[in-house]
Amino acid sequence: MNTLLKYSLTCVVALVCGLQVKSQTPDGAAPVAIKKEKLTTGNLAPTPPMGWNTWNTFQANIDESILKGVVDAYVSSGMKDAGYQYFVLDDGWMTMERDTNGSLVADPKKFPNGMKAFADYVHSKGLKFGIYNCAGTKTCGGYPGSRGHEYQDARLYASWGVDFLKYDWCNTDSLNAREAYITMSSALKATKRPIVFSLCEWGGHQPWLWATGVGELYRTTGDITANFNKDKHMGTWTALSVMNILDKQVKIRKYNGPNHWNDADMLEVGNGMSYAEDRSHFSMWCMLAAPLAAGNDLRKMSEQTKSILTNKEVIAVDQDELGITAYRIPMADSVEVWIKPLKNDELAVCFLNKGGQSQKLNVKWAELDAAAKAEGLETKFASVTYTLRDVWAKKAAGTTKSVLKQAIASHDVVMLKLVKK
Ligand code: GLA
Repeated sequence: MNTLLKYSLTCVVALVCGLQVKSQTPDGAAPVAIKKEKLTTGNLAPTPPMGWNTWNTFQANIDESILKGVVDAYVSSGMKDAGYQYFVLDDGWMTMERDTNGSLVADPKKFPNGMKAFADYVHSKGLKFGIYNCAGTKTCGGYPGSRGHEYQDARLYASWGVDFLKYDWCNTDSLNAREAYITMSSALKATKRPIVFSLCEWGGHQPWLWATGVGELYRTTGDITANFNKDKHMGTWTALSVMNILDKQVKIRKYNGPNHWNDADMLEVGNGMSYAEDRSHFSMWCMLAAPLAAGNDLRKMSEQTKSILTNKEVIAVDQDELGITAYRIPMADSVEVWIKPLKNDELAVCFLNKGGQSQKLNVKWAELDAAAKAEGLETKFASVTYTLRDVWAKKAAGTTKSVLKQAIASHDVVMLKLVKK
């Protein structure tokens, strides 16, 4: 083994194992002992985290009284019972300056009782509390970022009872992404409070290659917008459509898994798309085994929106303990089929019609084996019979012995759970 390779390996092992490493000083002075925090995060997110986030509905227009209403609705609407757990405050909760001690301050106009009191309210309803900041000098909204204050901010969050930190990537100049996220990760771990760390670096530095052990989830793309298939130009940047983000998940599917989730961004269900589009968006995020952060106004949720966000059979697909992202298999016309292996040799199968016209499904299951194999998935439809359950219609739908004939509307899905007969 050459010396350079051996040295690099030693460093990697030391970093991962949280060893004391002696740094060599270039001027020959005595080596300094540096305590490296452990890179392993434990088991804070064995399944994709589920919650709600302020940003998609409110942006920075938040205050305690509005948000207490959302907390109450979180519980009364059935979201909590359906498995959503985190209540996350996104950008806009702070004053524009730190105080004289360099501490972050919750905006007293928005949070007159302080952040600890609000966190206590969230906790009193049986929910977990999340907050937002940024690796740069300022957040994307221009509030004080954590750069140079990582340990101080982490201690403050822990004192408030924060359970989840979303950490953005604005105003970072030439910062090294991996190093910046490791610094905050170490700061959180040093508090000894279990805090889920949500990296929001938008995928530019391929966090799926290095974020395991740094945090539990990492954004894979730029921001989502509530449009099924058209990106929205915002001047200096572009917000991405639901289908655009979905397509970007295909190449990185193999990196997803327990405690290191590919984050496809927050949900836009209930924010203006059609029922079919909302249902497809939600189904596909569950097929991806993506984190589920609802982003609609829970106080004003329609029954239709609620029926999508709280469909427990669909959520169970997302939360399956294997944590495998579905394989995409192209079919004829505008239809794709996605297949997600689940525990107990079960499968979730979702047909997605991306096109503007309705289509007729005519699925001979055995023919899917070869198509799946070409995408790297071994299925056995030719030799094994499965029963089908339509998880949106909530009824049995025959078996894989018969041809599946069903209409699928434009921008809609047919989503099935398959159990061996
Ligand atoms: C970035 C993030 C968004 C949101 C905003 C807040 O754009 O990607 O999810 O947090 O910042 O300013």
